[in-house]
Formats: sequence, C-alpha cells, structure tokens
Amino acid sequence: MKQTVATAALASAMPAARSTNGYDLEEIERKLAKGSGISGVHKADLPTPSLILNLDHFEHNLQHAADHAKKHGLGLRPHAKTHKTPEICKRQIGLGALGVSCATIREAEVMSSHGIQGLLITGELVGPNKIARLIRLTRKAPDTMAVVDNPLHAEMLSEAAQAAKVKLNIMVDIDPTGRRTGIAPGSGAVELGKKVDSLPGLELWGVHGYSGASSHVKGFKERKQHSEKFMTPVIDSFKAMQKAGAPARIMSGASTGTYNIDSGLDGMTELQVGSYAVMDVDYRRIGGKGNDEVYTDFKPALTVLATVMSKNYDDIATIDSGIKSFATDRAFGPEPLLEGVTYSINGDEHGRLHLENAKVKVEFGDKVELIVPHCDPNVNLYDRMYVCRGDQVVEVWKVEARGNV
Ligand SMILES: Cc1ncc(COP(=O)(O)O)c(C=O)c1O
Repeated sequence: MKQTVATAALASAMPAARSTNGYDLEEIERKLAKGSGISGVHKADLPTPSLILNLDHFEHNLQHAADHAKKHGLGLRPHAKTHKTPEICKRQIGLGALGVSCATIREAEVMSSHGIQGLLITGELVGPNKIARLIRLTRKAPDTMAVVDNPLHAEMLSEAAQAAKVKLNIMVDIDPTGRRTGIAPGSGAVELGKKVDSLPGLELWGVHGYSGASSHVKGFKERKQHSEKFMTPVIDSFKAMQKAGAPARIMSGASTGTYNIDSGLDGMTELQVGSYAVMDVDYRRIGGKGNDEVYTDFKPALTVLATVMSKNYDDIATIDSGIKSFATDRAFGPEPLLEGVTYSINGDEHGRLHLENAKVKVEFGDKVELIVPHCDPNVNLYDRMYVCRGDQVVEVWKVEARGNV
C-alpha cells in the first residue's frame, strides 16, 4: 500500500512514547465515575486498540463548517451517522447547528435521549415498528422530521399520525442520482410535495436531496461539475413545489466533499455534512480546491491507537489492530502517522506495518496512531473515543448509538 502525501505531511517524528501507567478500561471508567476526571492520563497510558479524537483538529473542523455555513447564510444540520456520539452533536449545536441529521430511527432515539433537538431522519421509516417509533419520538421532540419518497408511504404516515393525534413533519426525499432512495426529480416529486401538504396529520417542510455519488469525486472541478449537474434538478423541483403552492421551506443536502459547492447553489437552505467532523483516509484523497492532491479543508481528527506487539524483523512490525479495529469496506487501509510507514491487515487482531521506507524508528512496545480508512463504519466498531489535546486525554465520549444501525 502506497503512502500518500497526506500522511507524510502529518507524520510524527517518533512513535508515541511507551506507557508508564497503563490504565485499563475499568480504571478509566472508575476515574470518570468518581468524578476525578482523567487528568494525568496520557495517550500512551490507554489500552489498545483505542479510538482517539484529536481535539484540536476536531475543533478546527467544526468551526470551519460553522463559519462557512454562516458566511453563506445556510443552516447546518450535520449528519450524526458519522460518529453516533451525542457529545459531538452538542458541540456542533453549540456552534450554531440547527440540530442533527440521523440515518435511522435508533440514532434519532439515542440522540433525543441525550437532549438533542432538531432531528432530521434521512432514511425512510417503513413498517409499523418504525412508524410507531417515529410517532413516539415526535411526541417527545415535536420538531423531528422524517422523509418520504412515494405517495403510499405518505398515506401510511398520515393514517398513523391521525390515529395517534400527532403531526408528523415531512421532507420529500428526492434522489439526485443514486437510485437508492428518493423519488426522481421533476413533476412526480412536485406532486408528492403537494400530496404531503394535503394529507391530514402531515406537515410538509421541504426537500431532502443527498448526492452521495458526488461526494468523493476526485478533483474539485470534476466534483463541482458532478454535484451541480445532479443537485440542480433537485433544487428546481424544490422551487417548483413552492411555485405550486406547497409550503416547502427547507432544501437540505450536501456532503463533506461538496459543502463548498452546494452552498453556492441558489435555493439550498441547509447543509447535512457528516464526515467533516472527524475525517478519514477516503476523504483526504478526493483533492482540494486549488488542485491540491490532498483535501485539507478539514483535518484528520480520528485515529486508532495501536501497540507494536511483535518486532522480530527489520522490514515489518506487527501491531495489535487488524480487521476488528478498522473498517474494511474500502480498497485501502488506515494510514499510520509515521513517515514512510504503510499498513496492511494481517488478521482479525493483527496488522502489519511496512518499514522498508520508514523515516522513523519503530520498536517493540511502541504506540502508533493510524488515520481511519472510512470514519462512519470505523467509529461503529468502538464503544468510546478518547478525546486528546496533544498527548493528554481530556475526555472520554461514549459512542452511544454504536451498533444500533
Ligand atoms: C443522507 C446523507 N446525508 C449526508 C451524509 C453526509 O455525508 P459525508 O459524511 O460524506 O459528509 C450522508 C453520508 O453518508 C448521508 O447518507
């Protein structure tokens, strides 16, 4: 696996120092429960593999997106599917986000139970179980929004809302390109908006349009062309809905790759970017605005901390982080924060560091950090993330909605 420019630029001069204290999970939990905080706990003291959040990078990312949205007069409803962590939502809302988007009813229930409001559930909630839970959630959090992409679903929601004497807030899900969920842009979408508006128990709020196919198009120019081509018909449908008298107010979409493209599209009102908060190898490869090879608008904030568990050869080292520690849905793996070092999976609990071109020494017992390949499924492997300012662990955030797909 080739190392990218991105990693070389970030590489630390030396592997992390070895642990002196070596806390285990229970000790850290006890410290937190006692309210004594985790002062004095360093990254190198943590059990491995652990998920690490670089607070400086994370804060930069949140601020950058918040500033961008504000500058363009847009709302921000960041997607929580990326991190499933209420503490992150709270910080996003603290910087002005209107609420958060959620992929599933379960994510929305978890976020709501932690006091997060302004939820937009971007996946269709189909079947009695999910509809009943949407109604329960809306009773508790009346500003919750759900999506529909066909008239039958709208009718089912209307019936359930009337029976429960609840008003459901609905967005029409328009499909820019993915052929996954969403109705095609055009007259059918406008008719669906009008139907939602006319059905008792439902209130039309606007349009949800997520062009996932645009998000990772390599090169800014190419990405811009792609997103504009596919988002324009969606936004035109949103405007046509308004013209037809259906009171659509929100036009929500965009991704980390297109936030600075879609914000220039007339009619857009909200951005639902997700990965930007923590980033990953996948996004760093899409290229930046100034023809840069690396996408640096947002900084890589999420790493896995691992330990070199075997070092019997000059050209390789084995770390304690393999298939169970990293998302493996991409053709590439994580990137070690060690200049000249690359990684390959070497088993469920083992990973291999390739040291032929290493610019730093890697020794038995060293702690190393690796940028996660794809943030969403990678976070979902961990119960908690250790939030670090430099080498100091300052907080532990629970990934409360993990596993609850
Ligand atoms: C519906 C929807 N909206 C927004 C996002 C956020 O995209 P990204 O994480 O690329 O910013 C996603 C991510 O998969 C998504 O599925």
